[in-house]
Amino acid sequence: MAGYNGLTSSGFQADAVHHGIDTMNPSKSEAPDVTVPITVDGVTHRALPGQSVAAALLVVGVRCLRDSPRAGTPRGAFCMMGICQECLVRVDGHLVQACMEPVVAGIAITLERSAS
Ligand code: FES
Repeated sequence: MAGYNGLTSSGFQADAVHHGIDTMNPSKSEAPDVTVPITVDGVTHRALPGQSVAAALLVVGVRCLRDSPRAGTPRGAFCMMGICQECLVRVDGHLVQACMEPVVAGIAITLERSAS
């Protein structure tokens, strides 16, 4: 059964575990490196293709994705299923929901943070 982002019901996570990939820390997996480069505010990281941008950001330690427009308070992914809109980031210049956007090689993610 196809899930969101075209993943099977077993999901990328189960397939990754089957192949020895540590999805929470892909750089420490014993399996061949299947990660792809992404940039977050100009800093290069590696992520698993097909995982959500929100998950990739959590893995590299990015918890705050944007600041609220009125109060300027930090916001982060909340529902992880496309409902709350708290995870808005720019991917290659387009405003997207990070939890619904799959990682592909070379994407440039820009966080919607106020200058502080
Ligand atoms: S975390 Fe709620 S829409 Fe992405």
